[in-house]
Amino acid sequence: MTKSGVHVVVLAAGKGTRMKSAIPKVLHRIAGRPLLDHVLAAAEPLRPASTTVVIGHQAETIRAAYADRPDVGFVVQEPQLGTGHALLMAEPRLRDAAGTVLLLYGDVPLLTTGTLEALVGTHRAEHASATVLTATVDRPFGYGRIVRVAGAIARIVEERDTSPAEREIQEINAGIYAFELGPLFDSIRGIASANAQGEYYLPDLVGIYRERGLGVTTVPVKNADEIRGINSRAELAEVERIVRQTKNDELMAAGVTIIDPATTYVHPDVTVGADTVLHPNVYLEGRTAIGAACEIHSGTRIVDSTLGDRVTVRNYCIITESSVAAEAVLGPFAHLRPASDVKEGAHVGNFVELKKTTLGAGSKANHLAYLGDATIGNGVNVGAGVITCNYDGTTKHPTVIKDGAFIGSDSALVAPVTIGEGAYVAAGSTITEDVPAGALGIARGRQVNKDGWASKKK
Ligand code: UD1
Ligand code: CA
Repeated sequence: MTKSGVHVVVLAAGKGTRMKSAIPKVLHRIAGRPLLDHVLAAAEPLRPASTTVVIGHQAETIRAAYADRPDVGFVVQEPQLGTGHALLMAEPRLRDAAGTVLLLYGDVPLLTTGTLEALVGTHRAEHASATVLTATVDRPFGYGRIVRVAGAIARIVEERDTSPAEREIQEINAGIYAFELGPLFDSIRGIASANAQGEYYLPDLVGIYRERGLGVTTVPVKNADEIRGINSRAELAEVERIVRQTKNDELMAAGVTIIDPATTYVHPDVTVGADTVLHPNVYLEGRTAIGAACEIHSGTRIVDSTLGDRVTVRNYCIITESSVAAEAVLGPFAHLRPASDVKEGAHVGNFVELKKTTLGAGSKANHLAYLGDATIGNGVNVGAGVITCNYDGTTKHPTVIKDGAFIGSDSALVAPVTIGEGAYVAAGSTITEDVPAGALGIARGRQVNKDGWASKKK
C-alpha cells in the first residue's frame, strides 16, 4: 500500500565532537527535553505518514531513548559520508511511499511548526521537486550559500567551496528541505563527492535538479533564530536562553508577573494563570499547571504538578507530581513528593515532607513533620515533629487521620494505624494502635517528679 503525505526524515548521525560529551548530541536537553524531542514535536502537527531518524554515532543509545516511540523508525548510517548519503539511508523505509519528504536535523531544535507548514505549503503550491528553507543573516560564515541566477536559486555552495564573491552572499541554506519522493533517491545517487570535505552533499541536489529541469524553490524563514543548530555547550545555553525568554514573554503577555525573567525557568508546556507572581529563581517544569493569583517565591522548583488559584508557595519548596488546591500555603522549605494532594486552604510549613499523602482542607502541618502514605482529613492539626512510620523495612503501610483530629508534637504514628474523628494524640506518643473517635491516645512514659532531688545531689 502506498502511503502518501509528509514523510519526516531527521538527520542525527553526526558525531557532535564539539559537545565534548559521552552523551549523543541529540539527547542533550533544552527546557528539560532532548533536542530530538523538540524536532519531532515541531513536525508532529503535520501528521507525518512516517518518521525516520538517521543515526550513526552512539546509535544504540539514541534508539534506546526512543524505545517507547513505535512511530519513530531508525536507520543507521555507518560510516557518515555526508548529508546526501545520510538521506539515502532512509530509502528502504520509503521505497513504497509517495508524497513529500520533510528533511530536518536533530540538532536544530527551535524550528516552529508554522515554518514547517510554510515550507511544505509553498512546496506543494508551486509543485516544486525540492524546496529549500533559507535565511538572510549578517554573519553567513559556516553555512552553505544560496547562489541565485536571475532571481531563481541555481545551486548551493558550501563555505569551504565558495569563491571570494560567493562568500559575501548573506542568504544561507538552513539545511531544512521539502523533497518530492519521485526523483529523490535516484538523484541523490548522482551526487559526487568531489568537494573540499570529500562528502556527499545533499545541497548539491539543487544544482542537479536545475540541470535536469526539475523545479526548485525557496522559502525564507522569518526568524533566523529558528534555524540555529547546536554544536557546542555555549550554543546549547544560548538556545536554552531563547526558549526561556520566549516562554516568559508569552506568560507576561498573558498577565503573569515575572519579577526577573532572566532568572525564571519555565518549561514550554507549563501553564500559569493571570496575576500570579513568579519571583527570581523559580523553576516550573514538565506539565505543571499553576492557577491564577498565586505567589511563588524564590528557590522553588515545581515539577509535573498542579496548583489551584491563590496558592502561596514560600521560599525553597520542592513540589513533584503533586496537586495543591486553592489558597493552600506551602513552605518555606516544604517538600511535596509524588502523589501528594494538599486540599483547599491547607498549610504545609517548614521542613515538612509529604509523600503519597492527602492533607485535607484547612488542615495544618506547620513544622518538621514526615507524612508518608497518609490520608489526612479536614481541619486536622499535625504538631511539630510528627512522623508517620510508614515503612517496616519491607513494606509501606497506610496511616489514616480523620477530620478534626489533633496530633500532638513529636508523636510517632506506627502504620498501619487510624486516628479517629476528633481524636487527640498526646505529645510525644508512639501510637501503635488505633485511637477511636473523640478519644485521647497517650503512649509514653509517665512523668515522675522527685521532690528535693537537686539539693540532695549536692
Ligand atoms: C549543512 C549544509 C549547509 C547548511 C547547514 C545548515 C551540507 C553539506 N551542508 O552544513 O549547506 O548551511 O547544514 O546548518 O549538507 N549528518 C548526518 N550524517 C552525515 C553528515 C551529517 O546524519 O554523514 C547530520 C548531522 O548529525 C547534523 C546534520 O546532518 O545533524 C548537518 O550536518 P553538518 O555536518 O552539521 O552540516 P553543516 O556543515 O552544518
Ligand atoms: Ca551543523
